[in-house]
Amino acid sequence: MDVRRVDQSLTEREIAGAATLLSTLVAGGAALGWVEPPSPGEVRRLLTTVAADPDAVLVVATDDGGLHGLGYWRRYDRPTHRPHADVEKVAVAASHQGRGLGRRLMTELIAAARDAHIEVLTLDLRGDNTRAAALYESLGFHRYGRLERFVAVGDRRWDKLFYALDLRD
Ligand SMILES: CC(C)(COP(=O)(O)OP(=O)(O)OC[C@H]1O[C@@H](n2cnc3c(N)ncnc32)[C@H](O)[C@@H]1OP(=O)(O)O)[C@@H](O)C(=O)NCCC(=O)NCCS
Repeated sequence: MDVRRVDQSLTEREIAGAATLLSTLVAGGAALGWVEPPSPGEVRRLLTTVAADPDAVLVVATDDGGLHGLGYWRRYDRPTHRPHADVEKVAVAASHQGRGLGRRLMTELIAAARDAHIEVLTLDLRGDNTRAAALYESLGFHRYGRLERFVAVGDRRWDKLFYALDLRD
């Protein structure tokens, strides 16, 4: 499996693979920020925008069978937050989970953040996502906050947990 930073555009096959991956995970209840599975068009717009953004890094995991994982960080827009970036949409296809791919994607995202002199990497997650929390904590992220019953899916509510990795040390 190749884990790489996307420095140009994704191929059509990779975009289609990402759309299938994200919509399948969300349909299965994954906490990726969507209530309904995103459409292929929405995933295309998101990933082409991120890939073309000089203040963002998109990382993908691919092999001959297609795209099996992705994630990205984006520098904060707010002028006072510009040294920092937020990690989003870290996702591994269910068929490939538990084999170290999430860790490889995150390790590459952190390396890219160091290369770009990002000072603090942040991310947030849904309170029931213990697997993701274990991954982030094992990579040095620490939890700095919790908003109770903030994540809303229909009538259901989960806590939102805030994590940060300080790269200035
Ligand atoms: C979270 C996610 C990206 C992890 O990817 P993955 O490829 O399965 O993770 P890895 O195999 O690299 O495992 C990394 C760590 O996750 C944790 N982990 C993995 N599988 C786990 C399980 N079944 N139970 C608990 N923790 C688990 C462990 O800490 C593991 O570290 P280890 O390898 O030292 O044991 C993946 O489960 C996923 O895509 N989930 C759905 C989308 C999602 O929730 N994304 C995160 C949004 S914040």
